[in-house]
Amino acid sequence: MLNIGLIGAGRIGKIHGESIANRNPNATLAAISDVYLPAAEELAAKLHVANVYTDYREILADPSIDAVAICSSSDVHAEQIIAAAEAGKHIFCEKPIAIDLAKIDEALAAVEKAGVKLFIAFQRRFDPTFAAAQSQVVSGKLGDPRLVIITARDPAPPPIDYIKKSGGLFFDMTVHDFDLARFFVPDSEIVEVYATGGNLVDEKIGTEGGDIDTAMVMLKYANGASAVINNCRESAYGYDQRLEWFGSGGQVQVNNHHPDYAVVSTAENIQRSLPYHFFLERYIDAYVNEMQSFIECVDNDTAPATNGIDGRWPVVLAMAATKSLKENRPVKISEIT
Ligand SMILES: NC(=O)c1ccc[n+]([C@@H]2O[C@H](COP(=O)([O-])OP(=O)(O)OC[C@H]3O[C@@H](n4cnc5c(N)ncnc54)[C@H](O)[C@@H]3O)[C@@H](O)[C@H]2O)c1
Repeated sequence: MLNIGLIGAGRIGKIHGESIANRNPNATLAAISDVYLPAAEELAAKLHVANVYTDYREILADPSIDAVAICSSSDVHAEQIIAAAEAGKHIFCEKPIAIDLAKIDEALAAVEKAGVKLFIAFQRRFDPTFAAAQSQVVSGKLGDPRLVIITARDPAPPPIDYIKKSGGLFFDMTVHDFDLARFFVPDSEIVEVYATGGNLVDEKIGTEGGDIDTAMVMLKYANGASAVINNCRESAYGYDQRLEWFGSGGQVQVNNHHPDYAVVSTAENIQRSLPYHFFLERYIDAYVNEMQSFIECVDNDTAPATNGIDGRWPVVLAMAATKSLKENRPVKISEIT
C-alpha cells in the first residue's frame, strides 16, 4: 500500500486526490496540503483525509508517506520536486516541470541523485483512444510517419491570474500537444518549430496576462515528417481534442469525444450532443489510468511511463515556439538546448 500526499487541492488536485483515495486499491491518500487552507480542508473532508497542511514540507517530513502528487501551480513544481526528492519521496508531478530549463535540469538532477521515481503527468498518453491509436502507429502497420495533425481547443479561457502563473499558452496548453507529437512519432525527435498566433479571444489575455490565446504551430521531425498543432483558448461548441496521423501505409484518427454518440435525424436537421465540456470530463479515465501507472511503477520498481525527459521536451518545444512567435521565423531546437 503506497501512502501518497497531495500537494495542491485545486481543479486537477481534486481529480488526482479522488483517484488516489477511491480508484486505486494499492494507494492511500494520506495527507493534503494547499497554501489556501480551505481548499485542502474541503477536499480532505470529502475524501476522509485526517492530515491537512498549508505547508507541503509537513508532508515531506512525514516518514509514513512514500510519494507525493504535485498538483500546485506550475511556478512551484520544480522547487517541490527538488524538496520531495531530497526527502526521498517518489514524485508524480503535473505539467510543466517549470518554464525554465536550468530549473528543470536542477530538478531532474535532484531526482537522479535521490534515486526516486519522477512521473510527469501527460494524461493523453493514458487516454484509451489516444493510446489505442498510438499502438497502431508503433505496430508499424501504418508505415512510416508523414504528417501529424493535432487540434486542441478549450471551451473558455482560464482566469487571468491562472494565465500569469501558467507560463502562457505554449507552456500551459500546447505542452500537451507537443507531448502528443512526440508520443505519435517515437522514433524521431523534433528539430524545428515555427509558431504563429495572437489575441482573438480576449485582448486582456494580451494586455494583462502577457499571452496569446490562439496559435498554430508547425513542427519538423529529424526524419522529415511534419506536425501541425492548432490551439484556441475558446471554442463555442466546447472542448475539441482531435488527432490525425498519416503515414506511408495508412492513417489513424482520434475524433472528438461526446457524452453520447446518438445521431438524431429529422426532416428539419440532423443533431447530436455537444462534445464533453472540458478536460475534467473528457480525460477522467486517462487521469485515473496515469495515476495507476505511477503507483505501479513505484510498486514494481519499473521505469515511469512518462519520465523527466518526457517532461523536459515539451518545455523545450514551448520555448522554441515562444521564440519563433516573437522573431517571426522557424527556430531550430539546437538554438534552445
Ligand atoms: N494535465 C492536465 O490535464 C491539467 C489540467 C489542469 C491543470 N494542470 C496542471 O495542474 C497544475 C494546477 O492546475 P489547476 O488547474 O489545478 O490550478 P488551480 O489554480 O485550480 O489549483 C492550484 C492549487 O495549488 C495551490 N498551490 C499553489 N501553490 C502551492 C504551494 N506552494 N503548495 C501547495 N499548494 C499550492 C493553490 O492554492 C491552488 O489551490 C498546473 O501546473 C497545471 O498546469 C494539468
